[in-house]
Amino acid sequence: MIKTVATTPYQDQKPGTSGLRKKVPVFAQPNYAENFIQSIFDSLEGFEGKTLVIGGDGRYYNREVIQKAIKMAAAVGFGKVMVGQGGILSTPAASNVIRKYHAFGGIILSASHNPGGPTEDFGIKYNIGNGGPAPEKITDAIYARSKVIDTYKIADTADLDLDKIGTFKVAGMAVEVIDPVADYAELMEQLFDFSAIRALIASGVRVVIDSMGAVTGPYATEILENRLGAPDGSVRNAIPLPDFGGHHPDPNLVHAKELYDDVMSKDGPHFGAASDGDGDRNMIVGKGMFVTPSDSLAIIAANATLAPGYAKGIAGIARSMPTSAAADRVAEKLGIGMYETPTGWKFFGNLLDAGKATVCGEESFGTGSDHVREKDGLWAVLFWLNIMAGRNESVAEIVKSHWAEYGRNYYSRHDYEEVDSDAANGMITALREKLDSLPGQSFGSLKVVAADDFAYHDPIDGSVSKNQGIRVLFEGGSRVVFRLSGTGTSGATIRVYVERYEPDASKHGIDTQEALADLIAVADEISDLKKRSGRDAPTVIT
Ligand code: G6P
Ligand code: ZN
Repeated sequence: MIKTVATTPYQDQKPGTSGLRKKVPVFAQPNYAENFIQSIFDSLEGFEGKTLVIGGDGRYYNREVIQKAIKMAAAVGFGKVMVGQGGILSTPAASNVIRKYHAFGGIILSASHNPGGPTEDFGIKYNIGNGGPAPEKITDAIYARSKVIDTYKIADTADLDLDKIGTFKVAGMAVEVIDPVADYAELMEQLFDFSAIRALIASGVRVVIDSMGAVTGPYATEILENRLGAPDGSVRNAIPLPDFGGHHPDPNLVHAKELYDDVMSKDGPHFGAASDGDGDRNMIVGKGMFVTPSDSLAIIAANATLAPGYAKGIAGIARSMPTSAAADRVAEKLGIGMYETPTGWKFFGNLLDAGKATVCGEESFGTGSDHVREKDGLWAVLFWLNIMAGRNESVAEIVKSHWAEYGRNYYSRHDYEEVDSDAANGMITALREKLDSLPGQSFGSLKVVAADDFAYHDPIDGSVSKNQGIRVLFEGGSRVVFRLSGTGTSGATIRVYVERYEPDASKHGIDTQEALADLIAVADEISDLKKRSGRDAPTVIT
């Protein structure tokens, strides 16, 4: 029943920040997916007889690749596969299943927040036994293997019915088709005060989640509507569709604008949230108040003990370097550790495993904790509802009183997408060269106190990651950060992160872009961004 198939290697299967991501037509080339999956298996040791978790965000090509992966897992000797019904598992839910059932690892099929469909994006990523993304040591090995692979193994059997829950056999290996939602919903019930949230909703607070035609639909429907009693229809775009119903499933002010406008309207809901394709990102909006991901992390950390799962307090907070320092002030007040890591969720893994950090967050709409080893969109939504219930306050009230207590970190990110790669690299190189000359210089009223190219020394394994973004720090806690995106698919994306700290509560009501205008101008002056990129404005402002 096991076939060994001759194949020719592809040279472009280098996993990026979050696995291998390519357009569907690339994945559909002969043996393309098979080569990569076999390269994963060839890079692992000791999985014989153990369990592999498989699931994805339901996007186009998900089912096809799942069938291949199951047959290939059987062929290389896994003892069992656990796969989500219909091929569905959100990224955080997959991380939970891996941890809960002590699986050897998992294969997650997703291209996160990128659009899906026959000509759109697809992705394959491998997660290890702690439930988190494979470290670079493994992804490098996978890439090296993919460049020379000449055979793969696959069970020569019929496709499995992915829609029927139960345990089946594929070429002698057990395959358990599981309810993708049950374990995750149970975990959420352990972490959060569901009866308080139920009472909040019953009291008339209207909560809406936009699943954007992607994977969180069934999770949000079960949790928000069935368990927390929100009226039917509170979860919008709730059916995961292969093309996400044409949505670009990225929860931000550009792609979730409809939800944002609805919450801001007079008669709209009081609270709105959205998630991305695979369910790990989140956006939180309250009436009259968009919560920046950086503020969200700080506020969750400051109020963590309201949630039963965190009632004992949190051990520490971690954030990516470009994320604002709002959380740092909370850590200082709580007297707990604060960790600043490079961009990318994988850098939190060691801190979470070592118990140094309990909650983590990134400006790129990612928030999470040590309950899994991925960021978790619905977790953040439930945390907010738990805080609203616990404080009996609206989102706007919570955010404003947080600012009044800790000061406000005005924050914005300006993206310049699809810039010529040489121009973008040239800008970063030029910035690097002038780092030493910046401290002491003044730009209007802004005086540079430090400038560097961020390097991270992992306190757990001692590894060093260099060149993670140019930071220019000004007197009083303002800063600008320049980085090239690691997830773009065409040309280069320049990200400029601008932040200003304002302790005075009477100045907390200014429009963000206005509050940051002088820093934005200085960022351009220091980097020559507009001239070098040939652009006079960012493509996206968040
Ligand atoms: C993915 C990762 C995040 C990371 C983001 C950064 O979503 O999962 O951890 O923050 O990419 O993307 P960028 O385009 O800024 O490199
Ligand atoms: Zn995602």
